[in-house]
Amino acid sequence: MKIEKKFQPFTVLVNNFGFNKSNSYCLKKISIKLLLFGFFSLSAQDTNSIENIISKLSIEEKIAMCHAQSKFSSSGVPRLGIPELWMSDGPHGIRAEMNWDDWQYANWSNDYVTAFPALTCLAATFNPDLSFEYGINLGEEARYRKKDVLLGPGVNIYRTPLNGRNFEYMGEDPFLAAKMVVPYVRGVQENGVAACVKHFALNNQEQWRGHINVEVSDRALHEIYLPAFKSAIVEGNAWAIMGAYNKFRGQHCCHNKILLNGILKDSWGFDGVVISDWAGTHNTNEAIYNGLDIEMGTPSNKNKSVRFPYDSNFLGNSFLDKIINGEVSERVLNEKVARILKLMFRTSLNKNRPYGNINYESHYKTAYDVATEGVVLLKNSNNLLPIDISKKIRIAVIGENAEKKMSSGGGSSELKVDKEVSPLYGIIKEFNNATIEYAKGYSSDDNQNNRQLKSKAIALAKDADVVLFIGGLNKNSFQDSEASDRKAFKLPYGQPELIKEISKHNKNMAVILISGNAVKTSWKYDVKSIVQSWYLGSEAGNAIASILSGEINPSGKLPFSFPEKLSDNGAHHYGEISYPGKNNSQLYKEDILVGYRWHDTKNIIPSFCFGHGLSYTTFELFDINTNKNKYRLNEKINVACKVRNIGNVEGKEVVQVYVGKENSKVKRPKKELKGFKKVEVNRNEYVEVNINIPVKELAYYDENIASWKIEKGNYIIYIGNSSRAIVKEIKIKIL
Ligand code: GLC
Repeated sequence: MKIEKKFQPFTVLVNNFGFNKSNSYCLKKISIKLLLFGFFSLSAQDTNSIENIISKLSIEEKIAMCHAQSKFSSSGVPRLGIPELWMSDGPHGIRAEMNWDDWQYANWSNDYVTAFPALTCLAATFNPDLSFEYGINLGEEARYRKKDVLLGPGVNIYRTPLNGRNFEYMGEDPFLAAKMVVPYVRGVQENGVAACVKHFALNNQEQWRGHINVEVSDRALHEIYLPAFKSAIVEGNAWAIMGAYNKFRGQHCCHNKILLNGILKDSWGFDGVVISDWAGTHNTNEAIYNGLDIEMGTPSNKNKSVRFPYDSNFLGNSFLDKIINGEVSERVLNEKVARILKLMFRTSLNKNRPYGNINYESHYKTAYDVATEGVVLLKNSNNLLPIDISKKIRIAVIGENAEKKMSSGGGSSELKVDKEVSPLYGIIKEFNNATIEYAKGYSSDDNQNNRQLKSKAIALAKDADVVLFIGGLNKNSFQDSEASDRKAFKLPYGQPELIKEISKHNKNMAVILISGNAVKTSWKYDVKSIVQSWYLGSEAGNAIASILSGEINPSGKLPFSFPEKLSDNGAHHYGEISYPGKNNSQLYKEDILVGYRWHDTKNIIPSFCFGHGLSYTTFELFDINTNKNKYRLNEKINVACKVRNIGNVEGKEVVQVYVGKENSKVKRPKKELKGFKKVEVNRNEYVEVNINIPVKELAYYDENIASWKIEKGNYIIYIGNSSRAIVKEIKIKIL
C-alpha cells in the first residue's frame, strides 16, 4: 500500500502512539497535522536526547536525512528547526560555491579562499605539529563558509606513480600518513566542522575508479591500506568518512559490508557518519544494510520537476517503501539517523562551536610555512643552490610551470583564490638584484609551437649565469588530476629533451618539479640541482623563491619513492592485472611490498628514495642507541640519538627509525618506518632526539587469526635520515 508522501509524518507519529499501519492511513484524512506539528518543536532539552528527537520524526523526515537534497547538502528537519547539513570539498581548501543541483559554480563573489599546499607537501614536512595548524586554519575557513563537513583529508596510499590523485594524499607509507592525518583531523574538528576522511578504501588509482574491483590480501589491507584511516578514526576521532568509488571483493566500497560494518563500525567502533562518494551508491539493499548513512551525488530526477528530486536516490523512495511495507525494520533507519543527528550535534546543532574566519594573512602564513617545510631538495651538486640574492646575475627562468596557475583544475580539490603567487613572480620579487628573463620553453597546449618555444629557451639559457627550469606536471587530465591516471611516467610535453638540450649550453641548471607524483628522472645527471616542489597553493612562488635564495633552508623529505623506471615500482611489476587491472578487476600482487618496501626487499635502487631530502647545511647523527636490547611485548623501544649541525646555516632534520625482522617466519619488508622526529638545529650545535616505539607496533597482520601478531626474536633497528641513508643498525630481541 503506497501512502502519499506528503502525509508521511502521520504514519510515524501515529505509529508512536500505538496505531498500526492500516489505522494511520485513515487518520491521514483527519487533518490534525498542524496540531501535531505545532505541538512538537525541538525544545532545548530535546537536543540532549537523540532518541527523543527520533521519536518525533516521521519516516519521511528520517529518510530525507539519509540522502542528498542538493549537490552538497543533505536534509535537516525544518519542522523541528534541525538545519540541513552542508558539505564541501576539499582537502587543501574550501571549494567555491556550487549551484544547488548541478556541477556549475554559482559564481559568488565572497567565496575566495586560501589555497593550502596539497597533502603530499604536508606529508613531506614530516611535521605533525604543522599538520595540526593546517587543520585548524582549514577548519576556520570551512566554518566561516558555513560548511559542516569538510570532504577531506584523503589518505589513500600511493601505490603507483600514475595515479592522478596522489597529489591529494599523504604518500606511500602507512605510518607517515597515519601520523600526519591525525593532527589534521583534530585541527579541522576544533572548529566544529567534521573531517570526512576519504576514500575508504583502496582507491589507489583513477583509471576505472567507478567500478574496478580491487582484490588484495587481508594482510596488505590491514598493514598498508587501512592504517591511515584507522588512525584518523580511532586517534583522530574523525566524525565522518567517505566510501570510495571502487569495489573491494566484489562490493562497492560505499556499501561494503566488510569495510563498513565489519572493520569500520564493529572493529574500530566508528560512531560517525559514512557518506558515499558522489554517485558512488549503486544498490538499495546494500546501502541499507551495509553501513552507508548518507547517500550523496546520486543524480536527481530534477528534469521531472518534482518537489523532492532526490527522492529517487537509492536511500530515497526505495528505502521508504521498504520501511512502510515492513520489509525493512525502522530500527535500521533509526540507526542511520542517530549517527546523522550525532554528527549534527557535533556540527550544525553545536551551539558552542567557534565562528571560523578567513584570516587571509595568518592562513597565508600557515600555507607558506607548510610549503617551505615540505619542499624537498633532491640534488644539489656544487652547491648551485641557494642563489645569493645580492649578486647581480642573469637568471633564465624556463618552463610553463613558472607561470601556470595550479590552484584551479585537478578535479574536486580545485579552489577559487584571490592569491596564488606564481614561481616566476616569486623569483622576480626575491631576486631583485638579478636580471630575470623568462622563456616558456614548452607548452601543455598542443596548439603551441613547441619547436619555437624550445629554441627561444635555449637561446636564453646560453647567456644566463643560472638556469631555473620550472616544470613537472600540472592539473590537466591525464596529469595530476581526478578521474584519470597519467599515461606515462616521464615528464610530459618534451621536458626531458629540453632539459638535456639546455644542459649542453649551460650546466648551471636547477630543475624545480611542480607535481604530486614521481616522474622519470633520467635527466638528473645533466643538471646540478633538483627541487621537488608540490602544488603549494597561494604562497607557491614565495615559498619556492625562499628556498632558492636560502631564506628558508629546505627540510622536506620524500613521502614516496622515485623509481628509476616504472617497472621498478611494485604495482607495475606484475602486468596489467596488477595495474590498471583487467576486465574490471585488479589484484594487488605486490601485496605488502609497496613503495620503498618493494625497493628495499627486492634490492631495486630508486632514483630518489622515500624519506630523502637534502639541506643547505650538513647534519650528522651520533650517540645512537637503544635503551636496552631485550624487550617484552608491553614495553617501548627507546631510540636516542644526537643531531649535530656541522654546516654554516641553521636547519631542520628528520631522524627516521625503521625496523625489520631478522629471519621472519613470514614474508616481511626488509624494513618499515616506525618512528620519526623533525628537529631544528642551529649551526655548530646539536640536539638530542628520543623516539619511542611500542613493541606492539612491530606486529604483522596474521591472516590465520585475523589479528595482529608479534614475532619474538631478533629485529634490526635502522636509524638514519632517509630509508636508504642508514647511519646505524642496532639488533634487539623481543622476548
Ligand atoms: C568526487 C571525489 C570526492 C569529492 C566528491 C565531491 O568525485 O571523488 O573526493 O569529495 O566527488 O566533489
